[in-house]
Amino acid sequence: MEKVSVAIARQTESIGRKVILQGWVRTRRDSKGGFSFIELNDGSCFGNIQIIADGGLPNYESEIKRISTGTSVEVRGEVRESPAKGQATEVQAERVTVIGWADPETYPLQKKQHSFEYLRTIAHLRPRANTFGAVARVRNCVSRSIHNFFQEEGFIYLHSPIITASDCEGAGQMFRVTTLDPARVPMRGKEVDYSQDFFGRPTFLTVSGQLEAEVYACALGKVYTFGPTFRAENSNTSRHLAEFWMIEPEMAFFDLEDNMNLAEAFFKRLCRDVLEQCPEDMQFFVNRIDKTAISTLEGIVDSEFVRLSYTEAIGLLQKSGEKFEFPVEWGCDLQAEHERYLTEKKFQKPVILFDYPRTLKPFYMRVNDDKKTVRAMDVLVPRVGEIIGGSQREERLDVLEERMKEQGLDLESYWWYRDLRRFGTVPHSGFGLGLERAVQFITGMANIRDVIPFPRTPGNAEF
Ligand code: 4AD
Ligand code: MG
Repeated sequence: MEKVSVAIARQTESIGRKVILQGWVRTRRDSKGGFSFIELNDGSCFGNIQIIADGGLPNYESEIKRISTGTSVEVRGEVRESPAKGQATEVQAERVTVIGWADPETYPLQKKQHSFEYLRTIAHLRPRANTFGAVARVRNCVSRSIHNFFQEEGFIYLHSPIITASDCEGAGQMFRVTTLDPARVPMRGKEVDYSQDFFGRPTFLTVSGQLEAEVYACALGKVYTFGPTFRAENSNTSRHLAEFWMIEPEMAFFDLEDNMNLAEAFFKRLCRDVLEQCPEDMQFFVNRIDKTAISTLEGIVDSEFVRLSYTEAIGLLQKSGEKFEFPVEWGCDLQAEHERYLTEKKFQKPVILFDYPRTLKPFYMRVNDDKKTVRAMDVLVPRVGEIIGGSQREERLDVLEERMKEQGLDLESYWWYRDLRRFGTVPHSGFGLGLERAVQFITGMANIRDVIPFPRTPGNAEF
């Protein structure tokens, strides 16, 4: 007897094997013939395995007939060909041992369909529901695919810090990190005396690993970060989290065009890998969440993304004849309704917008010769909107410093970042992909809170 996963036991190659299976019961059904069917799941794949437990088993009446949804069990038996539809194999049990009971009166995750809102209140149990198992496996597949893509392309995986003193995006939406006692904050005059704080200066949770990635790209060529990212923005939307995971490649000697090419190839690779490696989970999303989940991904893999300058996009929006809630004029920030028009109505595929007004974008983006726009690019996809944000970086020290002053940044504290432009500066570019937005797009899940195990949003951090 050998311990195997349900995924292994479901394969026809396992027929005839004696196996030990361990998992959680999804359902138990008793047959008139005096035996029971148990649907067992262990998370290794979407499908369950059917266990046949005969009435002759010694604990049949005392235990097996009391097994309910959520009970954990160990099953020993032989894998057989299944006569039933929709499954290649089943297991004829020789022994069924109950490991942990789940009282059907109080177990919160019953067989019936629960709302996603309700499931968020039981985040400790929801991974046992089909949807969340499928999301977790797809998320894992995407994560592996991200590493594979960059490793194969010769990138170095960089661990950028989580605690930082600089505000990369310059938006001031940062969580403070401090060991000062809020009841007795040391003051110097009217100001907090941060010299007495743990790091001797104000520090925060990072909003982006980009600045550190630039340091390493300007030495090692091509690097990427993949880590947690924090934004204290008070937006209660289906696309925002206070803690999310971001992947940030940064490449020396890449211009904006190279950057867009990489972003497109990268995103297509993620979609292709999920189609290949998670067919069962994707079929579930088609059946239950979004009928177009698979065809959307197939479309991405085969399509060429539209590339459009911000100025062209404004022109298209103005000519569209649509009634937008937010009026469109050159210089305005694009709203979700504008992005949706472009990706869903006008082109029905991903759109890369580039060359945004300088007033809309952070200090580090390279200023174009027109002095009005910067070498920014955003990848927009149907339904989710912005999934990638990136740019070519400003490598000219004088222009960079002018931009920093324009945005009211303290040049002194960015001395090391400016040094990169002082010593051996090179053109370089990079972008950030939000992992949850990617998983949201791929699975068709409507709310970003349902594609991260333990979502952090304003007012929510219990689990
Ligand atoms: O566009 P953003 O703010 O870009 C940066 O942070 C750059 N430093 C990236 C770079 O050039 N290295 O964020 C990048 C992506 C967004 O396109 C979005 O997918 C995701 O991160 N994102 C969020 N995801 C979930 N919740 C939030 N609050 C997010 N904010 C950004
Ligand atoms: Mg952005």
